[in-house]
Amino acid sequence: MDNKTLQALLDAAAPLIELAVAEDIGPGDATSTSTLDPRAPLHGRITAKERGVIAGLPVVEAVFRRVDPAIAFTPHVADGQEVVPGELVAEVVGPGPSLLAAERTALNFLQRMSGIATATRSYASAVSTTDATILDTRKTLPGYRALDKYAVRMGGGMNHRIALFDMLMVKDNHVDGAGSLLLAVERARAQHPDLPIEVEVRDLDELRQALAIEPPLDRILLDNMSLDMMREAVAIAAGRTPLEASGNVTRARLKAIAETGVDFISAGALTHSVKALDLSMKIQPVDKAAKMDPATRVRAVKSALGDRLVILGHHYQREDVIAFADYRGDSLELARRAAQTDAEFIVFCGVHFMAEVAAILAKLGQRVLIPDIDAGCFLAETASEHLVAEAWSILDAALATNGSSADAEITPITYVNSDAELKAFCGRHNGTVCTSGNADKVLKWALSQRPRVFFFPDQHLGRNTAHKLGIVGDEMLLWNVRRPPSAEAIHTAKIILWPGVCNVHQRFRPEHIQKMRERYPGIRVIVHPECKAELVALADDGGSTSHILKQVEAAPAGTQWAIGTESRLVHRLQAEHPDQLILSLADVPPFCPNMSQITLSNLAEIMDALARGELLNEVTVEPETRHWAKIALERMLAL
Ligand code: 13P
Ligand code: SF4
Repeated sequence: MDNKTLQALLDAAAPLIELAVAEDIGPGDATSTSTLDPRAPLHGRITAKERGVIAGLPVVEAVFRRVDPAIAFTPHVADGQEVVPGELVAEVVGPGPSLLAAERTALNFLQRMSGIATATRSYASAVSTTDATILDTRKTLPGYRALDKYAVRMGGGMNHRIALFDMLMVKDNHVDGAGSLLLAVERARAQHPDLPIEVEVRDLDELRQALAIEPPLDRILLDNMSLDMMREAVAIAAGRTPLEASGNVTRARLKAIAETGVDFISAGALTHSVKALDLSMKIQPVDKAAKMDPATRVRAVKSALGDRLVILGHHYQREDVIAFADYRGDSLELARRAAQTDAEFIVFCGVHFMAEVAAILAKLGQRVLIPDIDAGCFLAETASEHLVAEAWSILDAALATNGSSADAEITPITYVNSDAELKAFCGRHNGTVCTSGNADKVLKWALSQRPRVFFFPDQHLGRNTAHKLGIVGDEMLLWNVRRPPSAEAIHTAKIILWPGVCNVHQRFRPEHIQKMRERYPGIRVIVHPECKAELVALADDGGSTSHILKQVEAAPAGTQWAIGTESRLVHRLQAEHPDQLILSLADVPPFCPNMSQITLSNLAEIMDALARGELLNEVTVEPETRHWAKIALERMLAL
């Protein structure tokens, strides 16, 4: 967050903190001051009790400091970051009575703001495979507008107008009061020619009137329309003016609304029906807290096991976890490490498919453990063996019309972000695996084997890699599970792409690049190939997480970077290269929620179990699947 944004947030929060402290502490906390020794410092841990997105940590710090400047506040996550139950959000150390006096007020701010960010993230995720953007409204808690809107941004939404003064919004009441839509717009524009203008329309006739206005309006709001009417509105507007859907926007209807093709969806519920995120603060004496410290426990078991243990960590892991990795890398480097190590225990700090690769490549007797067995991958889950096999038989039938077959004509490639069953599928059908670090090499190899490739699950990596090899347009076919393509389309296709996407990389948009370049001329934009093709085309460079890392490491001081990949890698690069300007390409930092599931405390739990001789969260792959998946992986590693 830049200093200006931080200052604006703190300025808006200051009077609210005064009110809240006066209301809750007033002349003093009767219980804490009478029961606790103010000279013995206490240690407080603020932890998440449910999954959600954190927002408001600078406000929380300001509350503690307002109550007692002697309190030291250490955040363990950043605003905009997803947390899992039990995760440490922040620590506070200071005089016991002060900590407890500030606790409720601090948590009230954090819980409300995180609740808004959590709901916004869930809305934003529901539309992440479309081009729609989630907007807030003015239905905020009186006095809390700036905080509520900040939390929406942290959740991945975009702010609508801030208040009545920064945008003209001609609504039904203005139209009815002025006598006509045209008249209302003319009057508003005459008095405020510099303000952007949006007009609300109730039906398609009003929409046509609004679209006919010159110069075009900045946005048109479709009020409470049915899905069919919205689809028609999108067709009528034909891109002339961006459209916003509003009214009856529920989480359940969201995806369907976004799929009508509207550009924006505004939802009052984000800020008027807030469900606070469940967070708590637990206090302990400072010396007891130090003994229970998960970092101390991990360190102890690691040194006791020595060479018997290796910890592998993906670049997207949080800082306190990656600090314990013997090797960190992208998925290709970690697969190589997993195949090389002789350690008896491989603890994989990454997502499940990565640990599964380690388990597939493991030698006899080696055991692979993951701190959270449920740390999946959104992208991997977009394809299953059942659906891919179904598609394969459709491809087979289409090619049979020419006397050929899928096995004779198509090389299946699965991106490593997939289940073991899909890797086994590729093993059985003479295909292989690729990662973002070797996709072009693998695709070239595949096309040297057979004339076509079936690439799953990530359509963007497939498309971006094909573009690199000069394959474009009609030679690429996007699979549609509900409406499989015709035999003719299959015959002309060279690359058949599964429709999967990563909802973290999907968030970067071409306008992010535009804005960055306007603000920092000369900035280098580098993105991960899981981003959309139009973004990759605009960027200066693209590649795997390790490629991004190496480019920044090799650049001279003073280089400016806008990076389009997961936030933890960007934050690490910022910390390691203070002589360069390193920014996240998106305005809201995109954290991978699956990678977030690995925490220092669940790492400490599996390490504690290892010390007791127990295997917690072991990752195994059924032998037949393992056999074929290994063949596919070894084919890749040999390239
Ligand atoms: P890398 O192979 O670049 O590490 O990417 C893995 C991943 O999951 C990216 O989202
Ligand atoms: Fe999966 Fe995307 Fe997370 Fe990578 S960033 S692990 S592809 S969800």
